[in-house]
Amino acid sequence: MNNCKYFLFAILISYSCSSGKKYLNESELITNAEEQLTYALEIAEPLRDSILVSPRTIEDGKLKLVKSSDWTSGFFPGNLWMMYEMTGKDFWQNEALKYTLPLKKEQWNGGTHDMGFKMFCSYGKAWEKTNNSEFKEVLIQSAKTLATRFNPEVGCIRSWDHNSDKWDFPVIIDNMMNLELLLWAAKESGEAYLKDVAIAHAYTTMENHFREDNSSYHVVDYNPKNGNVQNKHTHQGYSHESSWARGQAWGLYGFTMMYRETSNEDFLEQAQKIAEFLLEQPGIKEGRVPYWDFDAPNVPDEPFDASAAAVMASAFYDLGYLAPDGERYLDVSEKLFLALSSPDFLASVGENKGFLLMHSTGHKPHNSEIDVPIVYADYYYLELLKKRSSSMLN
Ligand code: GLY
Repeated sequence: MNNCKYFLFAILISYSCSSGKKYLNESELITNAEEQLTYALEIAEPLRDSILVSPRTIEDGKLKLVKSSDWTSGFFPGNLWMMYEMTGKDFWQNEALKYTLPLKKEQWNGGTHDMGFKMFCSYGKAWEKTNNSEFKEVLIQSAKTLATRFNPEVGCIRSWDHNSDKWDFPVIIDNMMNLELLLWAAKESGEAYLKDVAIAHAYTTMENHFREDNSSYHVVDYNPKNGNVQNKHTHQGYSHESSWARGQAWGLYGFTMMYRETSNEDFLEQAQKIAEFLLEQPGIKEGRVPYWDFDAPNVPDEPFDASAAAVMASAFYDLGYLAPDGERYLDVSEKLFLALSSPDFLASVGENKGFLLMHSTGHKPHNSEIDVPIVYADYYYLELLKKRSSSMLN
């Protein structure tokens, strides 16, 4: 066991003993996920049809499935691909394919920036696991479609087309997550402009989305004719000047990924600035799952956002290995992972409509998806479980 793995292992043991809670180890967590996702498939299957293709959350006590065009449609197939990767069982590959293929038409959907979430989490994993060139073609087309939303005057991909009364060219911090598809497609297709688009978007975001303290705004609205910033707003956070927890997590993940994929030190520096901001937020260093917004007014009587914790924990893990002084990031990733793996957040098998994690918050200001399971929390949690279990094997 090398030093880093020993360090993770030691934290796991001491934390488990001192907290008095029962923690499953990695292989038990994988078995637990298999059982829970088998249950999820049992519930989802009768509800699935040619329109509603992918589970998203629980609404009014029922499992809610969404259309392929929904921004979350790629996460459930992604979860099934990760189960295949972690278990090697054909069952999971067959189920993953079943839930991936209905998303194919989204490669042509230029009406949103969410292409990476939808296609890289589903078809990206399908390609990685099968090397089927048909999947590769779908992904390259998806990247080209996403790049049509790039405006060279602004230097960004336009995120949303809705709320045109409020914003002319809204760019949200979440959009950083969709750049990985572009970088991958540039490499695989030789279309260098896809990488140029991703890099330009990241630099423009670095310039305009961040405050002095390295927290980020959710939405920056640009003038599409000259690229001037017109407004800095929130959409899903508490207020324009607050720090929406999942937004900070998207930023951390996005800039860490940009550094991993390009080796450009500017992106590492930005990722570390975001990391330092997060480590200053109450409870994060100790691995407490954040409330939905770091400035929510009624803490501790505010809903948690386990999805923010899962995205952050996965990003902190990568940053821990990429940054020269990364041990403190591995430490916080470990602690957040343990918190999510505790009975406070990890559902018992056969409950929670088959979702792994409880207590996420989607859109509090719209009174939507508050303190519920949401599929993307499971995705980033499983991603981290997969990384941790494969690093322990090596
Ligand atoms: N990308 C939308 C969200 O994080 O809710």
